Amino acid sequence: MTRVFSGVKPTGHLTLGNYLGAVRQWAAEDQHRSDALFCVVDLHALTVDHDPARVRRLSRQAASLLLAAGLDPELCTVFVQSHVDEHARLSYVLECVATDGEMRRMIQYKEKAARERERGGSVRLSLLTYPVLMAADILAYGTDDVPVGNDQTQHVELARDLAVRFNQRYGHTFVVPRATNPTVAARVMNLQEPASKMGKSDDVGPGIVYLLDEPDVVRKKVMRAVTDSGREVVYDPGARPGLANLLDILAACTGGEPAELAGAYDSYGALKKDTAEAVVEVLRPVRKRHKELCADAGYVEGVLRKGAEKARGMARPTVDAAYRAIGLLPPV
Ligand code: TYM
Repeated sequence: MTRVFSGVKPTGHLTLGNYLGAVRQWAAEDQHRSDALFCVVDLHALTVDHDPARVRRLSRQAASLLLAAGLDPELCTVFVQSHVDEHARLSYVLECVATDGEMRRMIQYKEKAARERERGGSVRLSLLTYPVLMAADILAYGTDDVPVGNDQTQHVELARDLAVRFNQRYGHTFVVPRATNPTVAARVMNLQEPASKMGKSDDVGPGIVYLLDEPDVVRKKVMRAVTDSGREVVYDPGARPGLANLLDILAACTGGEPAELAGAYDSYGALKKDTAEAVVEVLRPVRKRHKELCADAGYVEGVLRKGAEKARGMARPTVDAAYRAIGLLPPV
């Protein structure tokens, strides 16, 4: 059976981008067709300036949102990264096959490090090694498929490279994984800045739809989305990125084709109105289920406890094998 692994980082409230680009597919498809693990990757949230209490809060919230979005602990394993030591254990060994040049070439590192320096801050070493920890997340479980939005493809490519290199040098140990992207909404853009991704850690609140936004807040954000000059509704991501983003979102929510949907509208206003309602409807059951889960914190904790136990058992043999293969003496 195909092994699937993916994760979400608790650096901010989950967004419509996380949902349409990743989580929705995990719930609708991946957990049914495969042996899947979904992880709240809290160690990754420590790679930038953070408030410890907020990271804990967001980790709990992310876990209950994954369940609210439809992940079923009977079908898949849901857990928190720091509860399974194997991730950090394997990360160190993979640092011994990765190069610093490779790390410095990562687009997300370059962007985030530049932003950090602009703010006058320093760049944490863990931000540089972030993709190695991510590779450890993936390789520890013998993962075949990694369902992610487009922004993570380069990181998954690195995990592939490290797996191949390790296997060549030290003997076959890791399955070589591949990224899978959704066919629509693989990159949902910020409604206020259609040239940038809708990212949960970004500061431009009005351009980001959060999964827990009230319906009226969602409507307001979508109605105020920046569109392009011109009147005709056409799907042209290069020339009309704001409009294309709305059409992508509408298509992802209603199951249509962005270019076809464009033909059905003769005004931006009508398109925005329908997009807003489509988003509200897609998020409604998630918000409702999340509210129920908030009243039952014990349930979520139980899921995470069992998930971590199961994940530990799945990761340990591979990580132990990697330790032996690279030359470490087994414990006596
Ligand atoms: P993160 O937390 O940024 O995002 C979680 C998932 O949501 C997708 N995503 C988007 N998709 C479409 N449009 C957007 N605007 C958008 N924003 C986010 C991401 O592609 C991702 O699939 N490094 C990862 C977390 C991670 C991971 C892993 C993922 C750590 N270890 C191992 C897979 C496997 C990240 O920061 O995702």
